[in-house]
Amino acid sequence: MTSIKIAPSILAADFADLGNEVARIADYIDMVHIDVMDGHFVPNISLGFPVIASLRATTDLYFDCHMMTTNPDVFAENLATAGGNLLTVHAEVFPDPSRAIAAAQREGLDFGLAVSPPTPVEAILPYVENCSQVLVMTVHPGFGGQSFLGEVLGKVERLRKTIDSAGLTTDIQVDGGVTSETAPLARAAGANVFVAGSAIFSQDDPIAACEALRKIIEES
Ligand code: DX5
Ligand code: ZN
Repeated sequence: MTSIKIAPSILAADFADLGNEVARIADYIDMVHIDVMDGHFVPNISLGFPVIASLRATTDLYFDCHMMTTNPDVFAENLATAGGNLLTVHAEVFPDPSRAIAAAQREGLDFGLAVSPPTPVEAILPYVENCSQVLVMTVHPGFGGQSFLGEVLGKVERLRKTIDSAGLTTDIQVDGGVTSETAPLARAAGANVFVAGSAIFSQDDPIAACEALRKIIEES
């Protein structure tokens, strides 16, 4: 199976000290998960391109950008200019993601498709080969600190079968409520990229939290 990657979500970090928050765990993580929310696709507003650009000036880490917005394709150039690496858009916004795939390609961004809990995996299965990563939301998007919805793991299993049988290397990411207790369940279903916000940045020792999360997944 593909390698395990830890992707801390900065939504749970101290935005006034973002550069240092990421720098202190930089050696223990594989990418930075950046949640962009527009107040339309989800009932919350988080951060935008100026924040991403400021953080980019402090690190070379891979920026995995989860666009919880209604027109992320229109802003692909802004994301690339700010230093984003991966553009993940939601299948609920793009029943046909061709326009978003083209926008990512044009801007030299990797591409990802996400499904919210109520959305069937069939919404993204036909496009897996266009994705460097697929994202199965394990909470309803919009807020950190929610509880993991184990009932969506069937989607992860289905994606793992599809990806492996097609000989693809697409990463399968889970996002929301990921902890040392829930991550092994997602791993067993076939996920290999683990987003964690509160389970890392809200802990007294975020480095220990990253190490413990990786260890428990590797040993599961
Ligand atoms: C929720 C976001 C998540 C969130 C995860 O809409 O997509 O990335 O930050 O936070 P935790 O890990 O606290 O559930
Ligand atoms: Zn996210």
